[in-house]
Amino acid sequence: MLKQFGVGVAIAGSGSATPTAKLTNEQLSQVVETSDEWIQSRTGMRERRVATVEESLCSLSVQASQKAIEAAQIPKEAIDLVILATSTPDDLFGSAAKIAHQVGATHAVAFDLTAACSGFVFGMVTAAQYIRTGVYQNVLLIGADVLSRWVDWSDRSTCVLFGDGAGAVVLRADETRDRLLGFELCSDGTQNHTLTLAFQGETKPLVDEVNAKLGNYQPITMNGREVYRFAVAKVPEVISKALFRANLTASDIDWLLLHQANQRIMDAVAQRLKLPSEKVISNIAKYGNTSAASIPLALDEAVRDGKVKVGDRIAASGFGAGLTWGAVIFEWGINNG
Ligand code: UT7
Repeated sequence: MLKQFGVGVAIAGSGSATPTAKLTNEQLSQVVETSDEWIQSRTGMRERRVATVEESLCSLSVQASQKAIEAAQIPKEAIDLVILATSTPDDLFGSAAKIAHQVGATHAVAFDLTAACSGFVFGMVTAAQYIRTGVYQNVLLIGADVLSRWVDWSDRSTCVLFGDGAGAVVLRADETRDRLLGFELCSDGTQNHTLTLAFQGETKPLVDEVNAKLGNYQPITMNGREVYRFAVAKVPEVISKALFRANLTASDIDWLLLHQANQRIMDAVAQRLKLPSEKVISNIAKYGNTSAASIPLALDEAVRDGKVKVGDRIAASGFGAGLTWGAVIFEWGINNG
């Protein structure tokens, strides 16, 4: 089962963290004209977490990372690389280095990776390349977002959907076996406008014929119906391609782990792949759409609940802004011989 470079990848431990403050559908109906009934029936969401002023992308990421490192049973000094998948860093120059410092990954190089809700899947594949080439042995991969900072809290079509959180895993070099069985990544910039958190600025004249543009990022805009259609069409396709690369079929999969954007999308994808609902990992009711955090957050809960066991095969797929989408097929854990 060894891949061409002779070193395999194991996904060794997970952790997650969410803000303490809960915001229920009922409470949201005091903010915008909506109802628990609408939100639940259209999305499956019941509540989400919102980062308080004391909490940050970094603080949530550090908590999740510490749990993942503990679960992976490696010294933090052994981490070679920290990848932070996020669209909402505390600092636009990047938050990964600060997180690496705060978790005590003193020998690690760290960088941010942006692929919106696909960020964790893109990050897993990126981490795997460094491991397979023999460059790094231990990679801490974090998926985290605090979209509550960037939604328009007067736009009911988006503000009810998003929540904050962080999840992390440790990927390790494994000389005996490659547990990252297959992947496929895609992007399509022609559809970029369907989901944006875009910069907007005003011209500031500096000197003759030289103008700067000063401004800020504008709140999230989304054409929900378009993105929904895109997800239901593309996610089963990309999972099928990743399965093909892994030389597997959907029936070989123990768990379907999708970006938690909408329960209806998860149900539709499972149906397309002919997977029973018992195999679908979902915690969307509790956390809403946490963007890059949603996959590792759901994975960590399923691992800690004892649902996902060492050796289980997981098909994970992220999809969202960019547009970006992708799938990875992997075996969970490291001690299965
Ligand atoms: O993480 C990135 C990936 N994101 C996604 O995958 C999200 C994909 N899209 C979706 O999940 C769904 O499109 C939504 C949940 C966003 C919306 O569900 P929908 O069934 O597509 O609703 P819609 O946008 O077609 O809106 C239906 C109606 C509209 O009213 P009219 O025009 O039919 O009179 C909306 O104005 O529902 C109205 N509406 C609401 N009503 C109550 C929209 N938002 C709300 C709301 N509460 N919060």
